[in-house]
Amino acid sequence: MTSALRKKTAVLISGSGTNLQSLIDAGREDAFPADIALVVSNKADAYGLTRAEEAGIATALIPHKEYKTRKAFDDALAATLDDQGIEFVCLAGFMRILTEGFVERWTGRMLNIHPSLLPAFRGHNAHEQVLASSVAFSGCTVHAVTAELDGGPIVGQAVVPRHADDDEETLAARVRNAEHQLYPLAVRTFLRGDGALPTPPDARFNLNPRVVYTASA
Ligand code: GRF
Repeated sequence: MTSALRKKTAVLISGSGTNLQSLIDAGREDAFPADIALVVSNKADAYGLTRAEEAGIATALIPHKEYKTRKAFDDALAATLDDQGIEFVCLAGFMRILTEGFVERWTGRMLNIHPSLLPAFRGHNAHEQVLASSVAFSGCTVHAVTAELDGGPIVGQAVVPRHADDDEETLAARVRNAEHQLYPLAVRTFLRGDGALPTPPDARFNLNPRVVYTASA
């Protein structure tokens, strides 16, 4: 159900959309502060589009290859969000780097989920980096999106163990499970607060992030 208190939300995806699914499921509760109203994909074969259709949520396909520049793509994305009256954006496996102009317009109104305990292991191959290191724990982070890649203020983190015999698949599955718990929780926390981002001394970090410890096998 939509209510004036719920933010009209777009989820941006490029792939399977399991995090999208966790947000859709959470959004079925009237008390969830985000009304998932639109799913945007830059890829036609993203399974998340099917998830959205099955849930009766509007979809938009904006194939990045049809745009000559990042800015042209982001302009099309911005126009779609504006047309639909979107107030809040969740990036969930959206494999595009957004331009500074786009990010600035959405600052404080856009979250991302990253599969590592930021600020460690930024970038697209987080699990590979974790496995190449000696850390005993990994996890995931929901953060506000700023122009710095994977560098925005942290809203929440979930921690999982890294096992000695982990490969990318087993680690990713454990982290993904934690992501599905964390993202809805972080959206709740963020939208129920005043939306203010952490301030210096170190504006990259929320010094009081909400941490969820999980210990799934
Ligand atoms: C997740 O691991 C997320 O942290 C990363 O991309 C993956 C998306 O997975 N940004 P899914 O499409 O939600 O299943």
